[in-house]
Amino acid sequence: MDLSEASALVTGAGRGIGRAVALALGRKGASVTAVSRTAADLDSLLGEIEASGGRGLAFAGDVRDASVTDGAVAAAVDRFGGLQVLVNNAGVGAFANVEDTRDEDWDRIIATNLTAVFRLTRAALPHLMRRGGHVFMISSLAGVNPIAGMAAYCASKAGLDHFSASLMLEVRHRGVKVTTIAPGSVDTSFRGAAPAADTSWMLTPEDIAGTVIDLLEARDAAHLSRLEMRPARPQKR
Ligand SMILES: NC(=O)c1ccc[n+]([C@@H]2O[C@H](COP(=O)([O-])OP(=O)(O)OC[C@H]3O[C@@H](n4cnc5c(N)ncnc54)[C@H](OP(=O)(O)O)[C@@H]3O)[C@@H](O)[C@H]2O)c1
Repeated sequence: MDLSEASALVTGAGRGIGRAVALALGRKGASVTAVSRTAADLDSLLGEIEASGGRGLAFAGDVRDASVTDGAVAAAVDRFGGLQVLVNNAGVGAFANVEDTRDEDWDRIIATNLTAVFRLTRAALPHLMRRGGHVFMISSLAGVNPIAGMAAYCASKAGLDHFSASLMLEVRHRGVKVTTIAPGSVDTSFRGAAPAADTSWMLTPEDIAGTVIDLLEARDAAHLSRLEMRPARPQKR
């Protein structure tokens, strides 16, 4: 794909992996629609994209809200004339044993990590099919490797993996590639209040962003549909 001609939408673009992906796309000349809840994060992101010569659009909102997913796609198409790349990245997790998991935590995780992805992808597909497109799902190794104390998160990512694989088979003959990227530990704010003391062994958000760009620039006839990325030398438990 010629990224200098592409319009891309990235969720969870305010921080972490999504921000690195949005910046990398912007540096390649893509027009980037950035979605997350914290408007200040998006404003600073747009400043960085524009400073590197790129074009961006901030769309502040919660992807759990259907008017946000539909509205973000419509805004991207309206401003940039179409949509070729969708990066479903926004995601949340929580540490709690099942007996301590409240309904609202379960609903928040499934609504963000799974339902919002479905809605956004459904809204984007007609545009992605127009000129050819690529959907990325930022899943997790937790989708295949269960973690005690993270059942809701693991279930959401396992669901995302199968949603993504089914979608890939459904749309590959209609000009749309679907790639699931399943990272291990990435050095972001995802873990919240308890960051690891030494994070040097972890993947960086830029590792994931570089991979997204590599796949977008791959030969059109080649399709890498699933990718597991892990730290080369993880901390011993
Ligand atoms: N970090 C890891 O070790 C790791 C490993 C494997 C997979 N992943 C996956 O990678 C993805 C990105 O994670 P990250 O590590 O970059 O996390 P992060 O640093 O916490 O960033 C998450 C981004 O998503 C946004 N977001 C969260 N909930 C949202 C919502 N309801 N609506 C709109 N935006 C929302 C956040 O902004 P606001 O809070 O301002 O909305 C933030 O910009 C997630 O899907 C995560 O599951 C992460």
